[in-house]
Amino acid sequence: MNKAILTFMIISLFLLISCTNNTKNSDDEIEVGITIYRYDDSFISFMRRNIETMLNGKAKFIMNDSENDQVKQNDQIDAAIQRNVNALAINLVDPASASFMINKIKPAGIPVIFFNKEPSKEDMLSYDKAWYVGTLSEESGNMQGEIVVKAWNSNPAWDKNGDGKIQYVLLKGEAGHPDAEARTERIKAVLTNNGIEIEQLDEQTANWDILQAQTAADAWIEKYGNNIEFIFSNNDAMALGALKSIQKQGYNIGDNNKFIPIVGVDAIPEIIEEIKKGTVVGTVLQSPKDQAKAIVDMLLNAAKGQDVLAGTEYKLDEVKGVRVPYRAITLENINEASEAYK
Ligand code: GAL
Ligand code: CA
Repeated sequence: MNKAILTFMIISLFLLISCTNNTKNSDDEIEVGITIYRYDDSFISFMRRNIETMLNGKAKFIMNDSENDQVKQNDQIDAAIQRNVNALAINLVDPASASFMINKIKPAGIPVIFFNKEPSKEDMLSYDKAWYVGTLSEESGNMQGEIVVKAWNSNPAWDKNGDGKIQYVLLKGEAGHPDAEARTERIKAVLTNNGIEIEQLDEQTANWDILQAQTAADAWIEKYGNNIEFIFSNNDAMALGALKSIQKQGYNIGDNNKFIPIVGVDAIPEIIEEIKKGTVVGTVLQSPKDQAKAIVDMLLNAAKGQDVLAGTEYKLDEVKGVRVPYRAITLENINEASEAYK
């Protein structure tokens, strides 16, 4: 082959390669990968739909259901790395697997936004292209505690055995999940700090799940009946499960002598309806819309190689986390909850 033609071909090939590489960075060619720990989690399903809507038309994306299986999620992340996505957003199955994930992602240099299940500080600081979007877990437990303090103090009849203490049962989310641990600890601490004595009848893990909570509450009603003076639930889905269970036994359907107050967290629409009916005392709003917005803004910035906060007003804390504030919701301010779930 003629030397000039060969040189020409090599140069053209170079141009072609550099062009294809460049177009990856233009808006319409950006590709991001999102994994969701499980699609059938009530609160997370709102978050997922918001993320989808907000990403539509802004980037190519593949979203995966990890079906509560960490091994499956690892494979999904491997596949996204293979596709050479521009950025990743990960709702971990197991918060403790963040370091394992980072060890895969870091060599590929792909930026990653973790959300909802917070990795440890050490893991967050082990990769400069890792960020977090979520809440401050303790805040939800503190607010839940304050709702209970106020409601308990204004309803003396709720102390059914008149001993001045709250005999309660507690529904816990996934063990080891920062939200579950902090909510479980803080609600008790706030009550105690406010001079309210508490006595735990039982605590059960129901993994954020309505059916598991219903099963736990069935057993409690059988065992303790009307001696239960409060049901503390780490989230609303489990609070709904408990409500269904006790309603089957005639509680919380209008008979004042058969009432067990319940509190949850999330402010999902079904719980808002129950608060309106008076079957649930209160909840703590975490906004799926505001969190999805932060995730998408940061994900797109990261994918384009821009400053992750470009064009936003978010602030990063010491673990490079953006925190969306919670809000206590009771009948008094029930309308404040509706926007976040539209
Ligand atoms: C919590 C939320 C729960 C559940 C969990 C999943 O923040 O309150 O309802 O969705 O996240 O990680
Ligand atoms: Ca009592």
